[in-house]
Amino acid sequence: MKKILGIETSCDETAAAVYEEGKGLISSLVSSQVEIHSQFGGVVPELASRRHMEMIHPIIEEALSRAGMDLSAIEGVAVTVGPGLIGSLLVGLSVAKSLAYVQKIPFVGVNHLEGHILAALLEDSSPTYPFTALVASGGHTHLFHVQAEGEYRLLGRTRDDAVGEAFDKVARLLGLGYPGGPVIETVARSGNPQYVRFPRGMTGNGSFDFSFSGLKTAVHYHIEKGKAEGANPLQDKQMQADIAASFQQAAIEMCARTALRAAKAMKSPRLVLAGGVACNNALRSLMFGLAQEEGMELYVPRPALCTDNAGMIAYAGWRRLNRGERSSFSLNASARLPLT
Ligand code: KG4
Ligand code: ZN
Repeated sequence: MKKILGIETSCDETAAAVYEEGKGLISSLVSSQVEIHSQFGGVVPELASRRHMEMIHPIIEEALSRAGMDLSAIEGVAVTVGPGLIGSLLVGLSVAKSLAYVQKIPFVGVNHLEGHILAALLEDSSPTYPFTALVASGGHTHLFHVQAEGEYRLLGRTRDDAVGEAFDKVARLLGLGYPGGPVIETVARSGNPQYVRFPRGMTGNGSFDFSFSGLKTAVHYHIEKGKAEGANPLQDKQMQADIAASFQQAAIEMCARTALRAAKAMKSPRLVLAGGVACNNALRSLMFGLAQEEGMELYVPRPALCTDNAGMIAYAGWRRLNRGERSSFSLNASARLPLT
């Protein structure tokens, strides 16, 4: 099975892609809903589902047309089945089933987190098994040990907010808009990361779990204290940049140090960084530096393969379909689908 259509609708991006064995990703399209959700400062689930409903067919048609194919050339369909927003997942899953049914081709449900991790294998320089992987996104902060194809062991996860969620919430506290990750990274470039030393929760206690809500609360209190003393970081651009840089420094150190500690404990010579937060250049360079010190290799997909996309789903699905895996038409979506 060579030509796979991938569909991803787990959150607020409607995405479709075509993966072809021997050629790689030949088209990958993402329709973002940022404009719809930014006025609310976060994703509104019902609006996300409704927008997927409008966009899913045009996006699939465009992905096929850019691949120079029509539906009849597709041999299998891969679709995100969880975790994610249930109403959003159901749109993609229903469409995938319908396409598979009318075309009489197999389909397979893919775990979104597996998609993020396997995105690293789509790059020319890609890791071999085993490796340790950190998935850092708006919905997840999960550390896995990947022993072999499809063999995932959960090493740690966030106990409260995901790291991307912390970026989004802190951006809101600083009046910087949504989504917070890219805007915090930009503003932080002109700030001092040592301006405030925010707490690095759970980094030194031997577990591989994360906690970001204390960091977010510390930023909140810092801003309130500033206001009480007559300074307003929402208006003072330098102070805003210094707080953004100090928050980013704490968040990326928490991610990087815990991931490195986990990889060392697993005796992994290879580390993968994936998910939307992996776009962050400060995080990438910190992790590259730490990995080099430990003699480990770090693999980070290009930004378009870090944020939500259907290319990673098409690719993960191609691997599963070629191992003989098939989903049945009774497959249901799962908001909290575990990978292990
Ligand atoms: O993987 P993704 O597209 O969706 C989820 O599966 O959640 O990740 C989106 C998250 C958002 O929270 C966004 O703020 C964050 O990734 N993000 C970043 C950057 N670009 C996106 N966080 C930090 N720095 C960035 N440059
Ligand atoms: Zn994601």
